[in-house]
Amino acid sequence: MPLVNVIRGERIDTAPLNVRTPIVRLPIWLVLSWWFLKGLALTLVLACRYWYVTGPAALLLWLYVDFGWLGPVGLVAGLICAGCGWHFGHRSSFLRWGWFPVLGRWRRGVYRRRWHPAMATAKLAVSFDGHTVLPVLKRVRCRPGCDELLVRMVTGQIPDDFAAAAERLAHTFGARAVKALPGPRYGEALLLVMRGDPLAATVGPLPVPDVPDFTALPLGIREDGEIYLLCLFGTQVLIVGATGAGKGSVIWSLLRALAAGIRSGLVQVWGLDPKGGMELGIGLDLFTRFACKNAEAMADMLDEALAVVQERTARLMGLTRQHIPTVDDPLYLIVIDELAALTSYADRKTKERIKSSLGLLLTQGRAVGVHVVAAIQDPRKETLPDRNLFPTRIALRLSEESEVEMVFGKGMRDRGALCDRIPMATPGVAFVALDGDPTPMRVRFSFLTDRQIRTMARTYAARPVIDGQWTEGGAA
Ligand SMILES: Nc1ncnc2c1ncn2[C@@H]1O[C@H](COP(=O)(O)OP(=O)(O)OP(=O)(O)O)[C@@H](O)[C@H]1O
Ligand SMILES: [Mg+2]
Repeated sequence: MPLVNVIRGERIDTAPLNVRTPIVRLPIWLVLSWWFLKGLALTLVLACRYWYVTGPAALLLWLYVDFGWLGPVGLVAGLICAGCGWHFGHRSSFLRWGWFPVLGRWRRGVYRRRWHPAMATAKLAVSFDGHTVLPVLKRVRCRPGCDELLVRMVTGQIPDDFAAAAERLAHTFGARAVKALPGPRYGEALLLVMRGDPLAATVGPLPVPDVPDFTALPLGIREDGEIYLLCLFGTQVLIVGATGAGKGSVIWSLLRALAAGIRSGLVQVWGLDPKGGMELGIGLDLFTRFACKNAEAMADMLDEALAVVQERTARLMGLTRQHIPTVDDPLYLIVIDELAALTSYADRKTKERIKSSLGLLLTQGRAVGVHVVAAIQDPRKETLPDRNLFPTRIALRLSEESEVEMVFGKGMRDRGALCDRIPMATPGVAFVALDGDPTPMRVRFSFLTDRQIRTMARTYAARPVIDGQWTEGGAA
């Protein structure tokens, strides 16, 4: 009967070989010396491998031997005092170089202990050829509110496999959420294990940049503790959120980031507030042009913006791909508070006019420095012209799961954009897509009270243009 290898199912035609190891008799002293040397080498290797345990232990032992209890106790007390001084003197460097590295070591031990069951139950352990292969936990780094785990994936896995198991992993590690990103090298994934919630508290107004950087406007805080920066160049911005979700705070955060440019004339903001000026009217001084009651006037404003786009396109054709704003040739920002009111509730003729100029503005305006920021409550097709005309989309709290797909497209909710689960108690929290990151980022926009908006509008009032000449300060 032919022999068959049971694992691979291959035929083995040759007969198995019988090999006997020869017996060598050694004197006992040689065996004991060999074991002793092996044990010594292993101890040395382990002592070097776990230097962060053996080093301090050796130091404490030496202090105890030389000075008695006073030695180690004095050292520990001194370190605690120095740590407290560092913490109160310069908290950020203490966290970065002192606390987080120590916490990272500790947490690495904790993650390692739970790693095997976590990978097995999340179905990220792979069974192959009779073996179970686990993703390797390479590094753990602690950051404010989150741990960063660098994982070497099993061959054949992709970061999306980890993203799909994110909720399971979050419960396993006792964290609020887990976010999976591609790692720095192929075959690696970064898991961000979110612990506290830096977005739980309201974010106050951020400092106004002296000169706005149109590629990085600070609008709020990201859930990994970094500042959320919006790139306005080359884009149009859509803000979607149920009533009371905080669409206003996104608009005011953006105007605050641009405020210095508004005062200097580098930016002209045109406001369209079809709700009668209730929202944008508070900061009227920031707007060079404003319309709030008459749908015809709003349609005229959009037509004028389109005329600017067409004039610039003709002028810049073949010269540049991105218009760079100057005081004589500013960046135009068209802010529309309730887009649906313009595109669906106005009378039919005006509606058609608005729809066609808006469509052209959105497609042609972004390269020539005419940008639209539009807020809308309902992302359904009838009210929203075409979401693809808005490369940047900000989704605040939404009422239904299906609306997430209407804003971002397929798959974003599975990758973590749980807009329908944002609590009502946290207005201003939104999901955004970041450049180069396939998973959505949770952010909270800064909140300005009505008083702060009025003060900002007075301080950074737009300079009105009179007879084609910029004048000094004051509202239009
Ligand atoms: N970023 C924020 N941080 C904290 N609270 C906020 C934030 N944004 C809004 N709020 C609170 O939520 C309330 C509603 O916000 P806002 O008016 O901006 O919502 P909205 O989305 O514009 O609603 P609507 O569609 O009704 O106009 C505000 O009065 C404020 O109290
Ligand atoms: Mg509003």
